[in-house]
Amino acid sequence: MSYQEEYERSLQDPAGFWAEQAQRIDWFRPADEVLSTDEHGLYRWFKGAMTNTCYLALDYHVENGRGDQVALYYDSPVTQSKKAYSYRQMRDEVAKIAGGLKRLGVSKGDRVIIYMPMIPQAVMTMLACARLGAVHSVVFGGFAPHELAIRIDDAKPKLIVTASSGIEVDRIIPYKPMVDKAMELAAYKPEKVVIYQRKLGALVPAKDYDIDFDQMLSEAETVGCTPVYATDPLYILYTSGTTGKPKGVVRDNGGHAVALRYSMEKIYGIKPGDVYWAASDIGWVVGHSYIVYAPLLTGASTVLFEGKPIRTPDASTFWRIIAEYKVKVMFTAPTAIRAIRKEDPQGDFIKQYDLSSLKYQFLAGERCDVATLGWAEKQLGVPVIDHWWQTESGWPMLANFPGIELMEVKPGSVTKPVAGYDLQILNEAGEAAAPNEEGYVAVKLPLPPGCLPSLWQNPLGFKDSYLERFPGYYFSGDGGFKDEQGFTYITGRVDDIINVAGHRLSTVEMEEVVAAHPAVAECAVIGVNDDLKGQIPMALVVTSVQQIDYQDLSTEIVAAVRSEIGAVAALKKVLVVGRLPKTRSGKILRKLLRAIANQEEIRIPSTIDDPAIVQEITDIIHPNLKQINL
Ligand code: COA
Ligand code: AMP
Repeated sequence: MSYQEEYERSLQDPAGFWAEQAQRIDWFRPADEVLSTDEHGLYRWFKGAMTNTCYLALDYHVENGRGDQVALYYDSPVTQSKKAYSYRQMRDEVAKIAGGLKRLGVSKGDRVIIYMPMIPQAVMTMLACARLGAVHSVVFGGFAPHELAIRIDDAKPKLIVTASSGIEVDRIIPYKPMVDKAMELAAYKPEKVVIYQRKLGALVPAKDYDIDFDQMLSEAETVGCTPVYATDPLYILYTSGTTGKPKGVVRDNGGHAVALRYSMEKIYGIKPGDVYWAASDIGWVVGHSYIVYAPLLTGASTVLFEGKPIRTPDASTFWRIIAEYKVKVMFTAPTAIRAIRKEDPQGDFIKQYDLSSLKYQFLAGERCDVATLGWAEKQLGVPVIDHWWQTESGWPMLANFPGIELMEVKPGSVTKPVAGYDLQILNEAGEAAAPNEEGYVAVKLPLPPGCLPSLWQNPLGFKDSYLERFPGYYFSGDGGFKDEQGFTYITGRVDDIINVAGHRLSTVEMEEVVAAHPAVAECAVIGVNDDLKGQIPMALVVTSVQQIDYQDLSTEIVAAVRSEIGAVAALKKVLVVGRLPKTRSGKILRKLLRAIANQEEIRIPSTIDDPAIVQEITDIIHPNLKQINL
């Protein structure tokens, strides 16, 4: 079947199409209704069906002859350790962790926050929650205690599972003190904190709520899989939104399993027994879907990599891993390729490894520039596929399809919509844009299985954030266009979200921290294009005091963003300006600021209160662009 046939079939009869895909899943009980709406009028997939995601990811494979196959390769250049876990070992360890969590009172529907580095115990804890029907919420290690506290207050977890420390290249990051701080900051108090001791760095004094991970296991019995409804939540993943508060994206069990299983075969061209590697972090959606769930649901082997594309120890690491584990498909962010290219422009490291196992290199998470894609293609000699999706979708929305039909790779394009996504480019009025006309990327409802059914305990927030802008559509927040052949191009976010080194961040959230500085009268944080990280945040501040030491102010603001949001926010540049461009009604013109900083064509809005500001701001920003990341 061609891509076009597959795609059309999925839109003509969504329920029939996905019912067929659902046959690949070993349900405990089939669905009463494939597609329905809930009490809030939101679409739900596979109502009435019962399953357990951990069962599908582990037990099912052990029961069906894959017990001895490697489920997970752990490769940690930062600790110089490696380990392979078979499906049987994974199932047994996960069943034990689930038993430990159960003993601590975790049961179906309870939330568990996981704040851990890239270690097997983190993946196993996710699966252990799924085994119990509990809802995990993984928080990325680069986020500060304040961010963790926000998530604790929203998810109200029964407990937190953490590790004593993570490692950033050669720097030990003590996680436990950050959890203790978050416990102090949060209004809601989880009952216990379970700590996996990595025996790295100093031991932190124990708190009353502490439980040692190994001790929890020593007292635990193994437990089986709790049946849950397809529509029950599997996890909550918080992601940056356009307000200061992150959004709790909910993923259900059934639609998720069906969609990920489909994606592995049709998009990535992966079959049971293949080795698949997503070089991301379990704190992001790529980690959830393509380090943990999709490879395991498929019966493939996944790689858990605790390191960086460079400096652990050098730009050869990615290629060593591909050669060592015979990776068939690899997925990373363009930033990682740019970082490698900078260190090894001629690809000398690449030539030292046998990469014959590699069939496709996938990229996503941020816009990929044509030069980076071209370099990777030339060096690797395999199709390099840029594909587009979001935390909200949980799996690709626009891609190329080695598992169905590999289409032409048009540099700059993320190819075509995935089955189930009636993806349209809409103009301001919500009408279909003409070919090559830039507009808003939206998906006609219903979204396919696997996409967020709602926000955590906030259906109104879900409607407000995603469904109101274009009635009948999900609005992605991205801009883009389609060419005459339907190849789609993503031009970037049209809201206040930026993508720094593949990490999604909210400028509004940063502005809240900057504005809280006593010497700041008003501010704007914008994303500025960067050759390595794609985008870098820059703060423009108007001070409330006349005499100010600029260096001190800048240092204090940078430190505040790091301590409130986390190192990952990477705000390094603060510029003092006399005033900010505004509309006559007083709204800051951030789009204009972005255009100035990115040296794009300037369209001065008719609503501007004083056009002279454009030159004034340009004169301040432009001389500073070179040192934006210092
Ligand atoms: N825990 C604690 N701190 C973390 C962290 C984590 N899990 N991840 C990142 N940080 C810290 C970094 O150490 C760095 O701190 P610093 O300012 O003290 O140096 C800061 O957050 C910014 O990190 P990053 O933007 O990643 O920059 P970097 O210079 O450390 O690394 C790259 C640059 C290109 C190597 C790195 O960004 C990278 O590997 N990018 C690919 C990203 C990716 O795969 N994203 C997944 C989305 S699909
Ligand atoms: P996240 O939710 O962290 O996965 O970030 C999703 C956002 O990253 C999208 O809304 C896009 O703005 C951006 N993004 C992801 N993949 C791509 C891509 N291939 N091309 C351009 N932007 C992308």
